[in-house]
Amino acid sequence: MATTLITGGTVVTATGRSLADVLIDGETIVGVLAPGSQLLGTDLAASVDTVIDATGKYVIPGGVDAHTHMELPFGGTFASDTFETGTRAAAWGGTTTIIDFAVQTYGERVMDGLAAWHAKAAGNCAIDYAFHQIIGEVNDDSLQAMRALPEEGVSSFKLFMAYPGVFYSDDAQILKAMQVSADTGLMTMMHAENGPVIDVLAAQLIEKGKTDPYFHGVARAWQMEEEATHRAIMLGNLTGAPLYVVHVSAKQAVEQLAWARDNGQNVFGETCPQYLYLSLEDQLGASSEEWGTFEGAKWVCSTPLRSKHEGHQHHMWQALRTNDIQMVSTDHCPFCMKGQKDLGLDDFRKIPNGIGSVEHRMDLLYQGVVTGQLTLERWVEVTSTTPARMFGLYGKKGVIQPGADADIVVYDPNGHTSIGVGKTHHMNMDYSAWEGYEIDGHVDTVLSRGKVIVDDNQYLGAKGDGQFVKRGLSQYLI
Ligand code: URP
Ligand code: ZN
Ligand code: ZN
Ligand code: ZN
Repeated sequence: MATTLITGGTVVTATGRSLADVLIDGETIVGVLAPGSQLLGTDLAASVDTVIDATGKYVIPGGVDAHTHMELPFGGTFASDTFETGTRAAAWGGTTTIIDFAVQTYGERVMDGLAAWHAKAAGNCAIDYAFHQIIGEVNDDSLQAMRALPEEGVSSFKLFMAYPGVFYSDDAQILKAMQVSADTGLMTMMHAENGPVIDVLAAQLIEKGKTDPYFHGVARAWQMEEEATHRAIMLGNLTGAPLYVVHVSAKQAVEQLAWARDNGQNVFGETCPQYLYLSLEDQLGASSEEWGTFEGAKWVCSTPLRSKHEGHQHHMWQALRTNDIQMVSTDHCPFCMKGQKDLGLDDFRKIPNGIGSVEHRMDLLYQGVVTGQLTLERWVEVTSTTPARMFGLYGKKGVIQPGADADIVVYDPNGHTSIGVGKTHHMNMDYSAWEGYEIDGHVDTVLSRGKVIVDDNQYLGAKGDGQFVKRGLSQYLI
């Protein structure tokens, strides 16, 4: 098997940093060694097949994006990235594992939904992938099927307190699913927004002629995120289910999570780059020559972007530092403006919900290191190590240590990345939600199980490099 040595870099993990060389044999890390180590009196560098010079750069475990939606059916269309295009874009950005959401739609059987997701992904991925399971209809059959998910390597499921008539579960259904979660150890993932209330508010806005994307953010009030988060926490408390709240955007929801964690409950939260950087006013309220006030559709996602005058974004960075929020995923769910987002030109409710960011998460979060808001170790922790631990991948993923998969990124802190369509844009979207962002830092080299798939601004991987990874139960529980 081919051997590789990554020399001269600073190896950064969640727990520290050191100048070290990383030795890879085939697909696996076999050593983290003092620089210039020798083997039988010969420099190791002279006896391996490939040497990667990482002098002056960071050597980090590849990113783990635990929340993506390739080809998700939504609002009469499908998320525009396939597993092929989306995972390739992820690789470009230093993410080497995604956990996507297999979907059981209403009226469908859980295992059929899971099989359909395997069929979409198999042989198409650039990087390793795993699945969560969306439960679109909680009933006796799906509750039974959920008990078999751990054998399938699927150790978490997502429920929706939003989207009545689509993915929505009522409290009684949530209770029953959480009882299975408590029994089996499956992580309950929750989209925590009060959908029935939001739908009434949205209809009232439309009746008043307030049809612009901006009103998507008005209708999806933070109070209904706080309320749903609290309700999910109490149902988790009652049943003993471990709870992970996805795409947290409201600071009040963070306070609920912190309160529950202080009480010793197994409650966790993820946020996404959009909630750290973007706002109701600047994005959902944007206008352009091309789209007028419909420009804001580019950033219609749920939970929505929050008001910059209420301090949510600042609070979210702080919560990342204090571990009130444990990790950052993208909720990558891209739609093109033309032919997809524009379905909602006259009615914000018809705009498919989602933002594409799978390519930019590592870079965007690294800016937190640049500005002093995160340590290097915390950057690795929230983008790689905790996602791996949270969802039962740790040891193979999320760490640089002997025995781990050689999923490694060489990150150049002195490099530069200009985000935008026509620059660094590999996602299958006709716009970038991050157009014009200038990044201090650059993903130089990406290895996926020992194979160099990105190097020096070239893609060297192939469709099908990525394999399905079976996950164990969460390794993050208190
Ligand atoms: O707007 C979003 N978040 N779209 C993807 C579906 C979901 O709720 O995660
Ligand atoms: Zn959601
Ligand atoms: Zn999502
Ligand atoms: Zn570079």
